[in-house]
Amino acid sequence: MRDYLVFYVNGEECRVSGADVFQPLSSYLRYQKGQTGTKIVCEEGDCGACSILLGRADNGKITYKAINSCIQYLYQIDRCHIVSIEGLKNDGELNPVQEAMVKCHGAQCGFCTPGFVVTMCGYFDEQKKADPQSIKDCLTGNLCRCTGYEPIIKAGMNVDPEAIIPLAKLYPAGEMLRCFEQAGKESVQIKSEEQTVFIPANLEDALKFKAANPDAIVVSGGTDLSVIMNKRSYEPSSIMSLCNVEGLDGIKSTNGIVNVGARVTLSQLEEFFKERVPEFHNILWVFGSPQIRNAGTLAGNIANASPIADTPPFLFIMDALLELRSSKGTRQVRINEFYKGYKKFDLQKDELITSIVIPMPKKDELIKLYKVSRRKHLDISTNTAAFRLSMKGNQIENIAIAYGGVAATILRLPKTEEFLTGKELTVSNIEAAAEIAVSEISPIDDVRGSKAFRNQLARNLMMKLYFDLSEGRLAACPQ
Ligand SMILES: Cc1cc2nc3c(=O)[nH]c(=O)nc-3n(C[C@H](O)[C@H](O)[C@H](O)COP(=O)(O)OP(=O)(O)OC[C@H]3O[C@@H](n4cnc5c(N)ncnc54)[C@H](O)[C@@H]3O)c2cc1C
Ligand code: FES
Ligand code: FES
Repeated sequence: MRDYLVFYVNGEECRVSGADVFQPLSSYLRYQKGQTGTKIVCEEGDCGACSILLGRADNGKITYKAINSCIQYLYQIDRCHIVSIEGLKNDGELNPVQEAMVKCHGAQCGFCTPGFVVTMCGYFDEQKKADPQSIKDCLTGNLCRCTGYEPIIKAGMNVDPEAIIPLAKLYPAGEMLRCFEQAGKESVQIKSEEQTVFIPANLEDALKFKAANPDAIVVSGGTDLSVIMNKRSYEPSSIMSLCNVEGLDGIKSTNGIVNVGARVTLSQLEEFFKERVPEFHNILWVFGSPQIRNAGTLAGNIANASPIADTPPFLFIMDALLELRSSKGTRQVRINEFYKGYKKFDLQKDELITSIVIPMPKKDELIKLYKVSRRKHLDISTNTAAFRLSMKGNQIENIAIAYGGVAATILRLPKTEEFLTGKELTVSNIEAAAEIAVSEISPIDDVRGSKAFRNQLARNLMMKLYFDLSEGRLAACPQ
């Protein structure tokens, strides 16, 4: 068993053990590596000032993604290569993104600037195009309080992507990959006086550890848990980080059934569903920010059990199954029966979610998903709604409806579904259905909206479905 972490920072191997592993990566970079270009501002994944590029081994190469280092603890980055702003210069000179930021006046106080540069460098490492929409999309997780976004977007547009040295060339992967492969052969256990972290190399070790330590807190992307650690001084005594578990990071599609491994990130999912179910892709596109989606997982979104989580409404209407495993065996639970109350769900202490099984929409089925939030990007929902239906002419043959933000858990609306089945798609039928929907929900007042507002949203979302269907904007989802 290894008792230290091994990772690289800007091409240099680092080994860390003991209490030091229980800190956010941003703190490690600033206070232990002296790399103060990485800024810490919100410490909750909202501003992007702490963005770094996280490289993971991926089929014989290293693939880099921008993430928020303030909500990534060191025990999540074993066998990774971290590239911070200091590691992006070219032979001591500014790189083309930095040059463009200077030329286009993309910085004032400069506090947000390293985050913007890192994120854009990550984008150009993958994409060789600079159009305004793509630049805006890649920067939705970076906030600037003084410059305004125009000069920054202009800077992105002024970059010649071909002039950027690819990270694979800047940091040849060979030695790192050999080191990661060797290090991946054994599980890791590291202790401080107060905390222990276990990083299993495989699922078998993970399940054994969970059986022996049922109260251990499972950390996947950490985008929910690390915020609580940073903001509420939450210090679980026993942690299990899934970052090295093999076999949970793939998406498989067979005969109209998609199997999503528990370590699959929301970005991977967004890419996978782009052509297959564009409605779900669109919901993922407005989920947090690219940095959040590059770290967060579907399994984490489900197990966090928030009634305003963005992915479960789609899973509810598709009647997805959760595969739950313990050292005793495997069982499958319908997501529609998983939640038992606010943050309560059918997962035993020795179990892990290992995959999510999603039946794809049939050719004649329409899917419509809605998220109501104050801002389009980087905001959590007030209400969500998901509809799956098949039509015969103007008659609704079958319909499944799930609403979020209207009760302690996400809800299916069986009475509304029953009422609408076999009915003509008319304003009066939809208005009547909206009232039944309101009778099935029990929203509360909170910072995101009052009970009355949420009830009205529940009605309005039903009407929006009607108008979207009537205008014929929907096409059946291609499989
Ligand atoms: C800035 C910001 C923006 C966000 N925006 C959104 C948004 O738009 N929509 C939205 O829905 N959410 C949002 N979130 C919440 C969060 O990103 C998601 O819930 C994400 O999917 C969590 O996944 P994770 O892997 O990071 O979970 P983690 O933080 O690692 O874990 C979350 C919970 O799941 C449990 N868990 C994780 N994996 C497993 C497993 N395999 N088996 C059993 N239990 C497991 C953990 O123990 C923990 O209780 C946002 C968060 C932040 C910080
Ligand atoms: S400091 Fe704001 S996202 Fe990390
Ligand atoms: S330049 Fe000051 S916050 Fe962006």
